[in-house]
Amino acid sequence: MLKNKYISGILKVVAFPVLFMALGASAFAGGLRHVKEIMVMPPALPVHSQIAKGGPVIIDVTLTAIEKNWIIDDATGTQISGMTYNGSTPGPIIVGHVGDYVQLTLKNLKSNLFMHNIDLHAATGALGTATLDKVKPGESATVRFKLTKSGIFVYHCAPGGIMIPYHVVQGMTGAILVLPRGGLTDGHGKKLHYDRAYYIGENDYYIPKDKNGNYKKYDNAMDAMDDTLKVMRGLIPTHIGFGGKEFAYTGKHALTAKVGETVLVLHSQANNISSPHLIGGHANYVWVDGGFTSPPLRNLQTWSIPAGGAVAWMYTFRQPGLYVYLNHNLIKAIMLGAAAHFKVTGKWNNNLMRQIKKPGPM
Ligand code: CU
Repeated sequence: MLKNKYISGILKVVAFPVLFMALGASAFAGGLRHVKEIMVMPPALPVHSQIAKGGPVIIDVTLTAIEKNWIIDDATGTQISGMTYNGSTPGPIIVGHVGDYVQLTLKNLKSNLFMHNIDLHAATGALGTATLDKVKPGESATVRFKLTKSGIFVYHCAPGGIMIPYHVVQGMTGAILVLPRGGLTDGHGKKLHYDRAYYIGENDYYIPKDKNGNYKKYDNAMDAMDDTLKVMRGLIPTHIGFGGKEFAYTGKHALTAKVGETVLVLHSQANNISSPHLIGGHANYVWVDGGFTSPPLRNLQTWSIPAGGAVAWMYTFRQPGLYVYLNHNLIKAIMLGAAAHFKVTGKWNNNLMRQIKKPGPM
């Protein structure tokens, strides 16, 4: 059976460093204060300070693997039998500062069908903690890791073998924002403050079709697996979501800002490249590939996310109105759903743009 082969593949991957790593880990962070960080649904960020207050802390975080079905295209009612951290794709963003520790408890609901774990690109060793927190349904595990580098880092499920891409494209990805302790700067001494921040997790989906060309529905991610893996082998996504479904942050769910506000956007893509672009605006600062150690690039029209990467960009809105934020592969944006809206309120600036003649006969 195909399924059995995949499942046995999962079991092989994780054994070797588990015991050694687990025994060696606990001595270093003793005595630090624990701070509980309440996870929130993206695109929101948890309550946080842009500049670290005091010395390093241990940030207590809980993520729960939840397997669930949801609609990824409202227009057609297309459903995914997916998998999530805390019920959303992307999973919640974790925020800390360099030098802090994250103490992460991963729970796997008893009602789930799969084993899950987490590979945090911000963590050092043990496949990003993936060998230390592989949990069966009904189990939990807790790991602690140090935030050694600043930037925006992907996390994703990585249970081994074919389960790694399957769990990722079914929804198990998220990100950690690791801020410099003194906050963001332009790399030349100027401090950069944001008035609001959004986290956008881009995810490509591979939904199987029946022989009549209609998207198939399944009871759960186990039933969907064999057909979905066949679509994945073609490397052509059927849908792309900024936020768990096509056009998630549009209409009444559009992102908002005001003229004069500086917005920080964190954008991750665990499985594919992306080319983010803000129609009608520009990024004032882009931290290329999501690292805060190097100075940000300035005044870009379109920037890049590598597969398994993330980017941070900052913009101060100057005009009110509707802005489309999209993957500028326009097929992915318009036909597959990789686009969001910013609705910006404020006063129009005629100096920046004005209509000289309305459309009409020449
Ligand atoms: Cu998983």
